[in-house]
Amino acid sequence: MSDIEKTEFRLPDGTRPGQGAGRPADAPLVPDRQPADGDVETTLRPRSLEEFIGQPKVRNQLDLVLTGARKRGVAPDHVLLSGPPGLGKTTMAMIIAQELGSSLRMTSGPALERAGDLAAMLSNLMEGDVLFIDEIHRMARPAEEMLYMAMEDFRIDVIVGKGPGATSIPLELAPFTLVAATTRSGMLTGPLRDRFGFTAQMEFYDTADLTRVVTRAARILGVTADADAAAEIASRSRGTPRIANRLLRRVRDFAEVHGDGHIDLESARAALVVFDVDSMGLDRIDRAVLDALIRGHGGGPVGLNTLAVAVGEEPATIEEVCEPYLVRAGMIARTGRGRVATVAAWRHLGLTPPEGTPGVEPGSLTG
Ligand SMILES: Nc1ncnc2c1ncn2[C@@H]1O[C@H](COP(=O)(O)OP(=O)(O)OP(=O)(O)O)[C@@H](O)[C@H]1O
Ligand SMILES: [Mg+2]
Repeated sequence: MSDIEKTEFRLPDGTRPGQGAGRPADAPLVPDRQPADGDVETTLRPRSLEEFIGQPKVRNQLDLVLTGARKRGVAPDHVLLSGPPGLGKTTMAMIIAQELGSSLRMTSGPALERAGDLAAMLSNLMEGDVLFIDEIHRMARPAEEMLYMAMEDFRIDVIVGKGPGATSIPLELAPFTLVAATTRSGMLTGPLRDRFGFTAQMEFYDTADLTRVVTRAARILGVTADADAAAEIASRSRGTPRIANRLLRRVRDFAEVHGDGHIDLESARAALVVFDVDSMGLDRIDRAVLDALIRGHGGGPVGLNTLAVAVGEEPATIEEVCEPYLVRAGMIARTGRGRVATVAAWRHLGLTPPEGTPGVEPGSLTG
C-alpha cells in the first residue's frame, strides 16, 4: 500500500495536530497515522452545535437553552437526551459542555449501583460543571432518589453509619447541569423525568442529512467518495449516523482492496452486498425479526419475548435497537397484542401480504 506514507493524521476540524487554532503549543503531538477503527468514533464526533449535522429542532432548542443560560450567567436547566442508539446523544452531551465552556464529568446508569457512587460523583463537581449520565434508565433506585434532591436543590443527604446509629449529613453541592441520555425514556420514573427542564427527542436522520454525515466523515478519514456513492451509503444507514460512519469504513475497505480506494457508486453497492446490508439498510437482525414475524408467525401479532427467542437476541435489543427503525420505516406496527408485520414488510421479503395486512404500500413510504 504505497499511499500509507502519504496519509497524515488530521483533527476533525481538518487541521493537523499541533496546528489547530485553539491548541496549546505544548500539547502532545499525535503520531502521523490513520486512527484505528476503534478511535474513529471519537475522531468523527462533531465538536460544536454548528458542526452537528441534522436534528434542526433539537439544535435550535438547545441553542436557546444554552444561550439563555449564558446570558443570565447561570448553569442551564438539566437536559435529557432521548432516542435510539447512535443518533448522537453522547456527542450532544459533549457539545453542551463545550458550548458552555464547562468541564464534563461522565458516568453511566449501570455504574451508579449505590447512592454512594453518585454522592462521590456529585460532591466532586465544581460550579457550572456538566455531569453526563449515560443510560440513566439503568441507574439503581437509591441513587435515583438521591439525584432528585441534587437536581432540584443542589443538595444531598449523605447517610453515615449503619443501623440505629446512622446519621444523615446534609451536603451542599455546587450548581451543575445534569445531561442525561436514554434509549428508553419510557422507563424513566415520572419524578425523574419531571426534573429535567428540557427534553431533547433525537429523531432518525433523513437521507440528505446522512449524506452530509458521510461526506464529512469521508473528508476527515481522507477518502474520496462520489456524491451518488455517499448518498447510497446514507440511504442504507437506517437513519443513524453511527451506522453511516461504519458503512463508510467498510466501503472504504472494499474500495481499497478492489480498487484504488476511491468510492464510486458501483463499489459502494458491491461493498454493501458483501457486508449484508440490504436495499433498505436493514441488517441481519432486522431481517431475522421480519422473517420470524412473517415466515414464523404468519405476520403476527407476536409478543416481544417470543420474537426475541425466535431471533436469538435479548428482548431489550429487539425493542431498543431493531424496533424503533422498523416501526419508523413502516415495516412493523405495535399493537396491544404484539408486533404485526405490515404490507411493506411482506413485500420487502418478496412475499404477497394476505388480505387484511395493515400498512401502506412501500412505494409511498418516505425514508
Ligand atoms: N449529527 C451528527 N453529525 C455527524 N456525526 C454524528 C452526528 N451524530 C452522531 N454522529 C456520529 O455518530 C457516532 C455515534 O454518536 P453517539 O455516540 O453520540 O450516539 P449515541 O446516541 O450516544 O448512541 P448510544 O445510545 O449507543 O450511546 C459518533 O461517533 C459521531 O461520529
Ligand atoms: Mg452514547
